[in-house]
Amino acid sequence: MARQKITIVGAGNVGATTAHIAATRQLGDIILIDIVEGLAEGKALDIAEAGPVQLYDSFITGTRDWEQTADSNLVIITSGLTRKPGMSRDDLLAKNVQIVKDVSQKIVKHSPDSSIIVVCNPLDAMVYAASKVTGFEKNKVMGMAGELDSARFSYFIASEIGTSVKDVKCILMGGHGDDMVPLPRFTSIGGKHLTDLLDKAKIDELIERTRKGGIEIVNLLGYSAYYAPAAGAFKMADAILTDKKAVTSCCAYCDTEYDAGGYYVGVPAVLGKEGVEKIIELDLNDSELAQFKKSLDHVKQLAEQVDKLL
Ligand code: LAC
Repeated sequence: MARQKITIVGAGNVGATTAHIAATRQLGDIILIDIVEGLAEGKALDIAEAGPVQLYDSFITGTRDWEQTADSNLVIITSGLTRKPGMSRDDLLAKNVQIVKDVSQKIVKHSPDSSIIVVCNPLDAMVYAASKVTGFEKNKVMGMAGELDSARFSYFIASEIGTSVKDVKCILMGGHGDDMVPLPRFTSIGGKHLTDLLDKAKIDELIERTRKGGIEIVNLLGYSAYYAPAAGAFKMADAILTDKKAVTSCCAYCDTEYDAGGYYVGVPAVLGKEGVEKIIELDLNDSELAQFKKSLDHVKQLAEQVDKLL
């Protein structure tokens, strides 16, 4: 079987960490690309030099030259500005839409048959921008946020209950913003519903912490999270490149699904070699649907801003 080729755009914290995870898991050969001279080259070389110790032998190349990305199977876009304390994800839109536009045009030129995972913020709007600029099939363009947000929710639940994080199963929907929609009714621990294990006030507290999970890290570090975002990006990349048919919380194109009307928004989806292969439609109750609609309305407003800027 031919080796998979993965381009990771942006050699900052998220890009380099994703590259390292992908290398250790031998997902394929990795091209790490950045516009800053020496950055991708240096990080790629450092990751390659860990190979003899960690026993991986994928090829890892750092570059500023898009020719080297040619015919990638998958491109992960991590480039763009990230938040500083006091900023919302939406504050990044105007700058990052231009970066995503430029990168998307380069992907069309060099890897026209690739799938794309967008990781930069505001996430749902940047996926919309990448889809619009590339014109790729809608199922081949998606975004990573729900995996991060549900990982945070799972971690908070496991810590509260005193169980392994591996025993928590949760699904989270909506946009990657403060109005994201964690779903306690669809969250279980060892087969028991979360709603049977914690009272509503405690669940609401964990939901609030999940919604503010990004800024909690920004306030601690002074810059954005990257280990958990990179882990989420890797999980999606792995599902696609090894055709896992894995159910993920994914920012995916929804038309009739959840009555979304043709927008990219967080939903449970099956990922495999065709990208988003199926959207799972949960039987949401009125309150959950109302929360999802509120979050979707926000996503639509950001998409309108993207339309004006592209
Ligand atoms: C976060 C940023 C990366 O949620 O959106 O940490």
